[in-house]
Amino acid sequence: MDIHALHQVVHNSRDSRRAQALPKLSPAERDTLIKKYHPDHREAAYRPVAFGPNAGDLTVRELASVLEGDSPVPTELTLTPDYTVDVLVVGGGGAGCAAALHAHAEGAKVLLATKLRLADSNSVMAQGGMQIAVAPNDSPVQHFLDTLKGGHMKNDHDLLKTMVEEGPSIAKWLLELGVLFDRDPDGNLHVKKGGGSTKERLLTCSDYTGLEIMRVLKDEVLNQKIQLLEFAAAIELLSDEQGTCTGAVLQDLDNKRFVVVAAKAVILATGGIGRLHIQGFPTSNHYGATGDGLALAYRMGAPLVQIDTFQYHPSGGVYPEQLVGQLVTEGIRSEGGHLVNSKGERFVNELDTRDVVSSSIIRECEEGRGIRTATGRVGVWLDTPLLEAEQGEGTLDKHFPAMVRQYERYGVDIRKDPVLIYPTLHYQNGGVKIDSNSETSVKNLFVAGETSGGLHGRNRLMGNSLLDLMVFGKRSGLTAASRVKTASQGKLTLTHLQRFRAESKKHGVTSQVISPMVLPAYTRTQNT
Ligand code: FUM
Repeated sequence: MDIHALHQVVHNSRDSRRAQALPKLSPAERDTLIKKYHPDHREAAYRPVAFGPNAGDLTVRELASVLEGDSPVPTELTLTPDYTVDVLVVGGGGAGCAAALHAHAEGAKVLLATKLRLADSNSVMAQGGMQIAVAPNDSPVQHFLDTLKGGHMKNDHDLLKTMVEEGPSIAKWLLELGVLFDRDPDGNLHVKKGGGSTKERLLTCSDYTGLEIMRVLKDEVLNQKIQLLEFAAAIELLSDEQGTCTGAVLQDLDNKRFVVVAAKAVILATGGIGRLHIQGFPTSNHYGATGDGLALAYRMGAPLVQIDTFQYHPSGGVYPEQLVGQLVTEGIRSEGGHLVNSKGERFVNELDTRDVVSSSIIRECEEGRGIRTATGRVGVWLDTPLLEAEQGEGTLDKHFPAMVRQYERYGVDIRKDPVLIYPTLHYQNGGVKIDSNSETSVKNLFVAGETSGGLHGRNRLMGNSLLDLMVFGKRSGLTAASRVKTASQGKLTLTHLQRFRAESKKHGVTSQVISPMVLPAYTRTQNT
């Protein structure tokens, strides 16, 4: 059936939905729902990692292959440095920029290397906002409790305490740099409520929050004249004989040449893994989200945590095909957008935590109450015109201009017609284990942002990622800069890689996978 004909059920059911009581789930019912429908609980998608610091731990097959994959670097590579710096920051998103700026401000000589262009990252694509307890009726303690509940009590308490307490100082820093957060008519910062939160706590720049923050951070990196290498992918770390991190090998993506960087400290801020397309899911992530930092840190011997849990954002695009997997911000549900099945019913509290909402959508689709497109995809409706109906014409243009434009480009007017959505691979909840200064178990190796794990437990709340990467980007930059003041440059070797290869052989792993992937397989052309 034509997609426009299918819209009618949404328009026609609006009055009955307004009167509908939403299902209230007990903790046991939530648990059962998640276990039955959430992709984290599909046993066949998982296997144990064969060797290394997380040997025996279950993770999804796609990530296990990346962790066990072989380096593109030959062990006999001549390690004469092309660059010698205090701090090498790998990654040009929010965490990388924050790390570089803070290390630079402390007087460290910084090199920022990024495999695409500066700011090409998940950070720049963030839409819905940044959670910081700034409202008078809110507090870092409340922020802590909400996040802990959302993460199923599995969050690292030290990391979480650090993040919520430092939130207000991060807001101040970003405002001083020039970020234009939304304001109320009285001039106070405007705050919105995200799923799983008890208070309005999201600072927003309409639905361009990440773009606005990265506009400012990118300018600042350039203004501070921080040395920058673009299209330079980190493909291996360097270590001395004691296993301390001493630099990295990059690959110039233009000419494929290896670039050796000697650094007293390395900060990995390479973002997430959406482009591994775990379990065949589409993703909201940018093209570079291939888990490079996880592979690099793992080969150095840094343990990872919670590698069995991923976030499938409830609202990824389903139609049109060009927008499959693209984010439709939770902000629309925060403003009152209903999720609607093929029978015209709501079936979940739209502001429940993401794991519950995604599981409910998958249940509706598996039990035949989804809507199928001509290409065979299935999803449920997000009633976007409801916002115009209830809050007045122009609401979507005012609060969600990015969404309006994203769909308009393909002939869909979300002011008039609902959008079809289904969960999309959005975030890795786990990652490299760090302490509250962002340091890993490998000396002088730091990890910040989505590449790190533990802070969010088994389910991240909306808006906590932008704060995570600012807080731990800052902490990694400051700690690395103070460390290098007294440190001398260690020897450059690939001893850890020799050890890794020997272990791989011992375990009979005959992986053909080259890791890190750098770019997803489908981006390669015959010339690369
Ligand atoms: O829905 C969103 O705008 C996503 C936000 C987030 O993942 O923090």
